[in-house]
Amino acid sequence: ELTFIHRFEPAAGLNRPPLLLLHGTGGDENDLISLGRMVSPGSALLSPRGKVLENGMPRFFRRLAEGVFDEEDVRLRANELADFVTEARKAYGLEAPVALGFSNGANIAAAMLMLRPEALAGAALLRAMVPLRDAPKADLTGKRVLMVSGLKDPIVQAENSARLAASLSSAGADVQHEALPTGHGLSQTDLQLMLKWFAGSG
Ligand code: MLT
Repeated sequence: ELTFIHRFEPAAGLNRPPLLLLHGTGGDENDLISLGRMVSPGSALLSPRGKVLENGMPRFFRRLAEGVFDEEDVRLRANELADFVTEARKAYGLEAPVALGFSNGANIAAAMLMLRPEALAGAALLRAMVPLRDAPKADLTGKRVLMVSGLKDPIVQAENSARLAASLSSAGADVQHEALPTGHGLSQTDLQLMLKWFAGSG
């Protein structure tokens, strides 16, 4: 019995890494399935539902206010999600997945990279921010990370996403950080950037 409610779609033949799909606040395991199919056709898709409820809205960790995180919970939940990935890899016979996370889902993926780098082969982080003030020094050598930020994002300051990109790079990740003239929501350009980036990960 796996420890998160989730959807799983097996790989469909092509040699693409599995994706770990991580929704935003108020989403669920269904939200990113079609996006995952689009950006990485043929990948196995593993899509858990966040276990924390904020006024009934699923999330991946607790927050004290918008953009102010309960960092103890971030650590606990990132470890719990990494353990789920290990279980699911065994149950479904998967390689380490590439995370595809939006907003709160991108933030938990960033925390997993810092706390449990072995859990992920890489990550596409949409509208991510720094999840932990003092993260341990992780070794992210060989991991590809795409970050797409919005310059008009009212939740994530440009300085904050730049700081996350810098800390992932300094840990050895191969980071591509794109800042778009958009807000917190996703745009066609996000999709185009992801298509290109995922095509280079086969
Ligand atoms: C978070 O709580 O992870 C960020 O504020 C993004 C969000 O979910 O709105």
